[in-house]
Amino acid sequence: MEVVRASAAYLSDRGVEDGRLNAEYLLAHVLRMDRLQLYLHFDRPLSERERAACRPLLRRRGAREPLQYLLGSAPFRNLTLRVDPRVAIPRPETEYLLDVLADVAGSDRVFDSALDVGTGSGAIAIALAAEGRARSVTATELAADALEVARNNAAARYPEIDFRHGSLLDPVRDESFDLVLSNPPYLAEAEWQSAEPEVRDWEPHGAMVAGDRGLAVIRELAGALPQVLRPGGWFGVEVGCTQGPAVSRLLRTASGLESVEVHKDLTGRPRYVFGRRPLPEKTHDRH
Ligand SMILES: C[S@@+](CC[C@H](N)C(=O)[O-])C[C@H]1O[C@@H](n2cnc3c(N)ncnc32)[C@H](O)[C@@H]1O
Repeated sequence: MEVVRASAAYLSDRGVEDGRLNAEYLLAHVLRMDRLQLYLHFDRPLSERERAACRPLLRRRGAREPLQYLLGSAPFRNLTLRVDPRVAIPRPETEYLLDVLADVAGSDRVFDSALDVGTGSGAIAIALAAEGRARSVTATELAADALEVARNNAAARYPEIDFRHGSLLDPVRDESFDLVLSNPPYLAEAEWQSAEPEVRDWEPHGAMVAGDRGLAVIRELAGALPQVLRPGGWFGVEVGCTQGPAVSRLLRTASGLESVEVHKDLTGRPRYVFGRRPLPEKTHDRH
């Protein structure tokens, strides 16, 4: 516990939020235990070897390298995903995108074919497969090195997920899906510049930032969506908290979706937009 306390103070002094929690995670990682076990063994002395293993990790965290890159993993729903600086770190907000999906489309709805656009570590695609939300899952990603991380994350348990390299919907141009989800880059350049060092100095710029005040990627995706979204199919996207109205307009006009609504995250911020492609008008028999 002395080491935990000293490490927590070291990290807090360097501006790390939740220094104590970070210190616990790093120490537990070195000792190959979970955080609870640290407290059960609060009086266990550390060997010099163990201390030596902690030091560089604490130093790197103090220099604001993200905790998840240091641990090499991040939790996402019931999964533990491998992450490194090739991919954006999966966030709790994105976990909640799947809860919003259950709210809008029904928690027992199983989609025939789902698409995750900009899959990064594979988080959304793998969660859809793991939770049995779709019979087949495809994912696209522009960054080849990110795709490698996603493929590795899926390989052992979800080898059936079809990962494709390319921009937005280009790799699936001739296919169709009844669910399309995306957590695309949506930060404006200025937001990136003022982000915490963990984000600005470590996460891939192309994963987080889009032109046109953060809307460029979503705009392009919205324009191409009708080519792949089946009538009656759902689209859901994570957005920045001021972007809901603009993205709703895009989904109504450029994508032709109906039932377009902005949904809030657990802290009450408007962070998701969902909409549905209308079914074709029934042709009435006039006779
Ligand atoms: C915010 S990250 C989200 C990653 C992952 N889906 C998640 O939720 O953790 C956005 C991802 O979209 C990818 N991306 C950016 N532009 C893209 C494009 N034009 N086509 C496909 N993927 C793109 C980035 O490389 C990055 O992996």
